[in-house]
Amino acid sequence: MKAVRSYPRPEPKRVGNGLIITSMVLSLCILSLIRTRYISSPFGKSQDLSDRSRRLVSRGEEDEGNRVLLEELREAKRPICVETSRRSDVCEASGDVRVHGSSQTVFVDRDLTSQEWKIKPYARKHDKGALANVKEWTIKAVPDKAPQCTDNHSVPAVVFSVGGYTGNLFHDFTDVLVPLFLTTRHFRGEVQFVVTDAKAWWLIKFSQVLRQLSNYEIIDADADGDAVRCFPRVVAGLTFHKELGIDPAKSPNGYAMADFKEMLREAYGLERAAAEPAGDKWDVRRKPRLLIISRKGSRVFLNERGMSDMAMSLGFDVRVADPDVTTDIGKFARLVNSADVLIGVHGSGLTNVVFLPRGAVFIQVVPMGNLGWLARDTFENPSPEMELKYSAYRIQADESTLSDQYPKDHPVFTDPQSIHKKGWGELSRIYLNNQNLKPHLGRLRLALLEALKLLPHSHTMAQ
Ligand SMILES: *[C@@H]1O[C@H](CO)[C@@H](O)[C@H](O)[C@H]1NC(C)=O
Repeated sequence: MKAVRSYPRPEPKRVGNGLIITSMVLSLCILSLIRTRYISSPFGKSQDLSDRSRRLVSRGEEDEGNRVLLEELREAKRPICVETSRRSDVCEASGDVRVHGSSQTVFVDRDLTSQEWKIKPYARKHDKGALANVKEWTIKAVPDKAPQCTDNHSVPAVVFSVGGYTGNLFHDFTDVLVPLFLTTRHFRGEVQFVVTDAKAWWLIKFSQVLRQLSNYEIIDADADGDAVRCFPRVVAGLTFHKELGIDPAKSPNGYAMADFKEMLREAYGLERAAAEPAGDKWDVRRKPRLLIISRKGSRVFLNERGMSDMAMSLGFDVRVADPDVTTDIGKFARLVNSADVLIGVHGSGLTNVVFLPRGAVFIQVVPMGNLGWLARDTFENPSPEMELKYSAYRIQADESTLSDQYPKDHPVFTDPQSIHKKGWGELSRIYLNNQNLKPHLGRLRLALLEALKLLPHSHTMAQ
């Protein structure tokens, strides 16, 4: 399986930041107004006015009564879809909800809305490349002749897409699995997943995680034929907070990334919650374990053997593994969970840090090319919430094969911004797809000694 792209594109936020922030703040204000108004006292107000209109009707003032009732119904309507972040919309409705998956249609109670709502239920709202592989769903009032329920469900449905950039581990987690956890964990499994753009291998690959979140067989909407499924409630689209992250202040039950990691430990039977040696009795002499994340094709460590020999001389138990050659994610998760220190070049394989135990050290090797922002947005910023000690190893010109391809005074070295300006295609062609790395063992040795100091426990080291 070859991923089409390994990195999130620099997002439009880089252009016209001010405008986007202003409109975000505006829409947030409007949202919170709507929320305080309707969510804090659901139905209360409409009840009053129904009574009022009934009184009017009973006094013979039928027209006035109907007018008041209609006005109230219109007022009680709150938006079906709201923006949870600039990355994602989420639509929600309760009552008599009917889902016709094969036409991507959700019918809701007529009192709830008179308009049609459209949503692509994948958390990269402004990313045309991702959304090209995501079907659009329609949410609308049930027609006069309501489609008959072929299946009655007693739990809420959550509709989401596994199209987009899935198949790339970073996107599997940041676009789908973390948002899915955030949106559904509080149902404690009593939720029906309705998946669109499903790929069987993806559902199998992450079946252990999906089973932690839902007690029911997943419904593949695209293959659901004539079925009309009736639910007491539907949520379409997943809440998104931030890249590989959760904001506990905004999540149900205050869930945080630590809870997400805990769920992963359960899903894959990962033994180590923390990087301290478990069971001091027999583990006192356990060597600290270093896992080197290996890559083939691009951003390759050219001196992997030298790197591991040096690390062994420092007293590390060293493993080298390439996540792309295994389809058994659980097996890889257990290997990662056994590590105290993980080092790897920036790329989707580093997403495996979600399986590291608390307090482990994560060294991201950042290739040449002023890629600090990319390293930060993808893996550095999420690290503290994952309870990892993060450090960056920035590749120097003489550690990069770019030095064999370009003269020292080439803009590739002297002015990386000029390459960035040409767009993502050029940036990734030069710095991501055409660069291999050979870290200086002396420099790397210092980085590993530093990592040992960051570990929560002190080991008896050779030196
Ligand atoms: C679903 O529930 C409705 C309302 O209770 C009922 O009329 C209908 O027969 C049920 N359909 C199925 C397929 O069980």
